Amino acid sequence: MGQSAYEKMNIQWFPGHMTKAQRMIEENLKLVDGVVEILDARIPGASRNPDIDRLAGDKPRLLLLNRIDLADPAVTARWRRYFEGQGYAVLETDAKSGKGVKEFVPAVHRLLAGKLAEYEAKGQVGRALRIMILGIPNVGKSTFINKVAGRKAAIAGDKPGVTRGKQWINIDKGLDLLDTPGILWPKFESQEVGELLAITNAIKADVLDKETLGANFMLRLRDYYPQALTERYKFTPDPEANGFELLEAAGRKRGFLVSRGEVDIERMANTLLGEYHDGKLGRLSLEQPNDGSLENGK
Ligand code: G4P
Repeated sequence: MGQSAYEKMNIQWFPGHMTKAQRMIEENLKLVDGVVEILDARIPGASRNPDIDRLAGDKPRLLLLNRIDLADPAVTARWRRYFEGQGYAVLETDAKSGKGVKEFVPAVHRLLAGKLAEYEAKGQVGRALRIMILGIPNVGKSTFINKVAGRKAAIAGDKPGVTRGKQWINIDKGLDLLDTPGILWPKFESQEVGELLAITNAIKADVLDKETLGANFMLRLRDYYPQALTERYKFTPDPEANGFELLEAAGRKRGFLVSRGEVDIERMANTLLGEYHDGKLGRLSLEQPNDGSLENGK
C-alpha cells in the first residue's frame, strides 16, 4: 500500500511498564515448560512482540490467533498456514464467546508431549505443565484464561497499558498458567505498526490524533475493503481522495453536520473506529502474511 498519502501521527504508549514486564518475563521463563503467545488475528504481525524470539529462547511455543470473530476468515487461514510453515503450533480462538478454547488443553499436551514423557520417566507422573501466557495489552489474555479455567480467574478489562502482577492460575487439567502483564516494545518498528495497534485499541491514540488515525484507517479500508465502506456508510470511496475527505464523505452521509453544513470529522473518526471495534464493519483483517499470495478483501 502506498504510504505517501498517510498522515504522520503521534501515538502515546507506556515505556515504563515495558522494562518491568520484560524483566518479569525473563525471570519466570526458566520456570515454565512452554509459552503461549496470544495475537490479535486482525494484526498477527503488529501484535507480536519483536523481542519474543530472544525472550522465549528455545521454549516450545503455541501461537493463539485470538479475536477471529472480528478477523477476515480467509486471511486468518493464511496466517495460520504461514505460522505453521515456520514450525509453530497454532490455534484460532474467539476468547469472548469461547470458540476454539476447548482445543487449547489438547494442543498444549501435543506441544509438550516430550516434556510429559520426561516427567513420567523421572517418576513425576501428574506433574502440572507450566505455561506462560504472553501478549500485548488488551489482546484478550484475561478473557482467554477465564474461559480456559472455566471461572473468573483473572480480571479482564479494556484498559490499554494497565499492567498486573505475576499471577499463576491453576487449571484443573494438569496445567498451570502464568499470566503476564501485556508488554510492548522499546520502539515501534514503523508508524504502520503503531497505527494498527491504535486502531485495534492495544494502545491509545491521543485525542488530537484520533482524526488522523481515522483518516489513515479510511485509506486502509478503501484499499483493502472498499465494499465495507460502501455497505456501512453508503458511499463509494473516491480513489483520489485523502483520508480526511473520505471521513467527510462518510460523515455527510451519516448527517454528522456542524454549523454551515460542515461535517464533524472528529465525530466520524470516532464512529468509524468504534464501529470497527464493535465488528459493525464486518470481519476485516488489517495485516496479511508475507506469503506471496494476493491481497485480501478485493
Ligand atoms: P488483556 O488481559 O490481554 O489485557 O485483555 P482482556 O482479556 O482484558 O480483553 C480485552 C477486551 O477484549 C475485552 O473487552 C474482551 O472482552 C475483549 N476480547 C477478548 N478476546 C476477544 C475475542 O476473541 N473477540 C472479541 N470480539 N473480543 C475479545 P471488554 O473490555 O470487556 O470490552 P469490549 O472491548 O468488548 O468493549
